[in-house]
Amino acid sequence: MSSQPEPRILLTSQEIEASVSRLAAELNRDYHDKHPLLIGVLKGSFMFMADLIRLLDFPVEVEFIRLSSYGGGRESSGKIKVVQGVRTPIKGRDILVIEDIVDTGLTTAFLLGYLRRKRPASLRLCALTDKPARRKGPVTIDYLGFTVPNKFLVGYGLDWDEKFRNLPDICVFEGEE
Ligand code: IMP
Repeated sequence: MSSQPEPRILLTSQEIEASVSRLAAELNRDYHDKHPLLIGVLKGSFMFMADLIRLLDFPVEVEFIRLSSYGGGRESSGKIKVVQGVRTPIKGRDILVIEDIVDTGLTTAFLLGYLRRKRPASLRLCALTDKPARRKGPVTIDYLGFTVPNKFLVGYGLDWDEKFRNLPDICVFEGEE
């Protein structure tokens, strides 16, 4: 086995583009008379957010939030804190959270609880990918791109140790179980 794993394409950039277009159409239908605040979860959502908002035909505001999970590595420890918060007031706003991936769901559950306590008018979640095999608690994804297998994904904003975010496709590593 080589020590330098080779990324293998799981979802092509064309498949991602089609999925982002479908999600944008759903959002254009549901938010056409609203003025929501989209909150992207850094860093992994930046590419998805950038592609998605270009297809939205209603007025949007954009914020980013950065969370940290102690423990490092590939496992979410569940001990999460906000390291870069949102300055725009949340109270009374329609909030749409933009996530790259829901894996164990611990980060998302924490974030939705954190935002809900700020009393938004509505709070929904749009996630590009969902890895349900590793879920540790219930998470409702209102708008979902892809359900993915229990493998570590990189590309299209997703990283492995800060690398591979720039790949245009979503990839897995050959040899990974
Ligand atoms: P959680 O396990 O659902 O709390 O996921 C927390 C975060 O871990 C996600 O927002 C991603 O940043 C990261 N993550 C989870 N699974 C993957 C993956 O397969 N590739 C890259 N990052 C991941």
